[in-house]
Amino acid sequence: MRSANESSNLHLLPPEFLEPNWRFWSFVLVSVIGTYVLLSFPVPVKDGLTDPFYTPTVLILPLVVLFRLTCYAYRKDYHRHLFNHPNTCTVNERMDSARRKYSGETGFFRVENFHRYFMYTAWGILPFFYYDIYYSIVYSGSLTLSLGTIILTVNTIAVTLYTFSCHSVRHLTGGYKDCFTCPANRDRKTTFFRIQSRFNEHHETLAWISLVMFVFVDIYLRGLSAGVIPNIMLVHSGGGI
Ligand code: FES
Repeated sequence: MRSANESSNLHLLPPEFLEPNWRFWSFVLVSVIGTYVLLSFPVPVKDGLTDPFYTPTVLILPLVVLFRLTCYAYRKDYHRHLFNHPNTCTVNERMDSARRKYSGETGFFRVENFHRYFMYTAWGILPFFYYDIYYSIVYSGSLTLSLGTIILTVNTIAVTLYTFSCHSVRHLTGGYKDCFTCPANRDRKTTFFRIQSRFNEHHETLAWISLVMFVFVDIYLRGLSAGVIPNIMLVHSGGGI
């Protein structure tokens, strides 16, 4: 005989989806409306600047969404703040331990186990961001540097730092070890691992900065192509290159 908790783990959708939870469902509502509004506008293309959501158009959204949705930083946030489960240890009312088992990485959330593979796809997408910077500089046949190019560059740096501060990258650079402080592994840390670990400490901050930056660039470019925001030209060489 299975216990009630074991049986509930067999369902594809965990209890978090099935319980009335105004935070979760209002997030879903805002996301659906936001996506509909964004998709109803044409792809913003202006002065050689490419919206990062469309780099390259077909691949980017599903892969980026899966990479971000399975990221440990966001997982902590949406499990705690959207599903109320599992709560942080400092919260008095431990709903998870009192009333139900932790159900992460089971059922629908099994997809979270594939994060390391989505990480590789994120690496594959990064060069496109750098190409977009290059293209925004040479698109006109002369050298151009605009405020838009600087914003694209800041966004690309933020995405790069976020991607390479990933916990899966740390596992990779640490030689696939599960315990970095164990005596057998303590002296085997490479310089690259030490540098990556410094960024990894700030991974959650980098995750939110790069996400906000991503959305900001999208809104900026939509404003630009609608003629609401001017693109400030800082350098325009005039001659051909
Ligand atoms: Fe956040 Fe990998 S853990 S990107």
